[in-house]
Amino acid sequence: MMRSRLRVAVVFGGQSGEHEVSLLSARSVMQALDKTKYSVLPVGISTCGRWLTAGDPWQRLSDGEDSDCDTAVNTGSGALVPGWEAEHFPAVDLVFPVLHGPMGEDGTVQGLFELAGLPYVGSGVLGSAAGMDKLVMKDIFAAHGLPVVPHVGLLRSRWQAEPEACLDEIEARLTYPIFVKPANLGSSVGITKAYDRTDLASGLNLAASYDRRLLAEQGVDAREIECAVLGNDTPRASVCGEVVSNREFYDYRAKYIDNQSRLFIPAEIPTATSERIRSLAVQAFMALDCAGLARVDFLLDRASGEVYLLEVNTMPGFTSISMYPKLWEASGLPYSKLLDQLIELALERAEERHQARQHPVLQ
Ligand SMILES: Nc1ncnc2c1ncn2[C@@H]1O[C@H](COP(=O)(O)OP(=O)(O)O)[C@@H](O)[C@H]1O
Ligand SMILES: [Mg+2]
Repeated sequence: MMRSRLRVAVVFGGQSGEHEVSLLSARSVMQALDKTKYSVLPVGISTCGRWLTAGDPWQRLSDGEDSDCDTAVNTGSGALVPGWEAEHFPAVDLVFPVLHGPMGEDGTVQGLFELAGLPYVGSGVLGSAAGMDKLVMKDIFAAHGLPVVPHVGLLRSRWQAEPEACLDEIEARLTYPIFVKPANLGSSVGITKAYDRTDLASGLNLAASYDRRLLAEQGVDAREIECAVLGNDTPRASVCGEVVSNREFYDYRAKYIDNQSRLFIPAEIPTATSERIRSLAVQAFMALDCAGLARVDFLLDRASGEVYLLEVNTMPGFTSISMYPKLWEASGLPYSKLLDQLIELALERAEERHQARQHPVLQ
């Protein structure tokens, strides 16, 4: 008897600033999933947070359905997920969340799948949340002895209460240029490169409009090297790639609007450097308890050759021309085979969870 196809829900869109990027990533994923192995069920999350399953959810979101909202959806219906078109929601074997940024890549949606008992691709609640939070992430790296650039973390409430003291503290510990970031965002949203105290103050105000936790980070004149990691308990690292931006830094405009950033794969760096980066990438993945996939980003100091961990992205851009799939392609793993592996890893992780004892054995 022919084994029936695995039913895979691909979830895309979402409430973060990376909604459109997610649509592009998901379109590539849905096109490349091997239809002899999987039946694909598209699930779209609107920018207002409604879950769309009827008709062609990808087209509905592309047409801008339910994108006109000032506040988060609260239907008051008691539904677990707002607007869930439950009558259309099919039974699935596995979920492939192709969501970037907050409310997608940060453990929230992963928690929902845990509660629903559904296997899903990618990191769990902890790894996703840790990978989304730049302050927690850096603390974990530092605790593991992994190299990060110096930073100062602060709460928005403290910044608002005593701005001069905050500026003094940052200036005492870091030198310009200083990068100012909200702790929990992606796509360079809310990030400023500050050259003086005035910039620093306006950067902190901007970051504070996005998050209640902020960081100021030592700027480094660096090349940006990225490495793809794939696996669960014994992850492997791809070749390294380099991103060269045409702007002052790799900001939102460079990433998504100008489209003039260039990827060099493999990165032209000394072998010893690339081996160090690949090893650090796996260590970073393990330190955050990631699963499935992550793209680990580095700063390579132009002057000293030092390597610093910049951040981990647990659901990196996933179009067929994005860095993560490209890195695997260059490492001998084509796009649709990469998807097969991610699905196998998700099933393996779900099986492991299943094996774990739920209750204490009293003796
Ligand atoms: N400490 C730093 N030194 C030099 N450039 C930085 C630094 N921090 C961030 N950048 C630049 O800003 C970009 C976005 O920062 P990043 O921390 O990766 O945030 P995001 O999660 O939004 O991608 C980086 O790709 C890099 O170009
Ligand atoms: Mg980044």
